[in-house]
Amino acid sequence: MLEQDIERVLFSEEQLKQRVAEIAQQIDRDYEGKEPLLVSVLRGSFVFMADLVRQITLPCTVDFMAVSSYGSGTTSSGQVKIVKDLSEQIEGKDVIVVEDILDSGNTLSYLLKLLEARHPASIRLCTLLDKPERRTKPVHVDYSGFSIPDAFVVGYGLDYDEKYRNLPYIGILKPRVYGGE
Ligand code: IMP
Ligand code: MG
Repeated sequence: MLEQDIERVLFSEEQLKQRVAEIAQQIDRDYEGKEPLLVSVLRGSFVFMADLVRQITLPCTVDFMAVSSYGSGTTSSGQVKIVKDLSEQIEGKDVIVVEDILDSGNTLSYLLKLLEARHPASIRLCTLLDKPERRTKPVHVDYSGFSIPDAFVVGYGLDYDEKYRNLPYIGILKPRVYGGE
């Protein structure tokens, strides 16, 4: 059972739903009269993305990108690899990059630079979770769901070694699962 590996629930399904709705309302207000393109960074953000777009009432489009920087550990390797690029051009578009979690900032500082070079009309970052204490590369965040302490979390799309993504809540993983203690 996945549940047995969870030390404590950080955000329940209800809390996540509430916060995602607030972010969607903010996006609706900020992009009024526009048609943003939401770019989900796979795989971690797929659940957040699916819930977020269903709360946005503006016309919008979606695209997906896959990057890897972690392997099976719990800290970033620092090497970002584009595993799957976008399907569409973003030149002239109002892009919102949707991420699950901002940790060291490695992945996003690399990704944002790469996307900016394609000349979108604008680009903003929306992350569900932020671990500010862990930042080693500065990244500007436009929409953030929750700031969290430095703990390894799983669920609601976030994984450890590709598992736990299907938990409907976000919980702290017991360190013994990854050999922490
Ligand atoms: P960064 O490059 O260090 O900012 O790492 C960002 C990526 O690391 C995220 O997109 C996640 O895939 C992964 N990550 C960072 N912290 C966690 C965590 O606590 N749980 C699960 N994945 C995490
Ligand atoms: Mg990720």
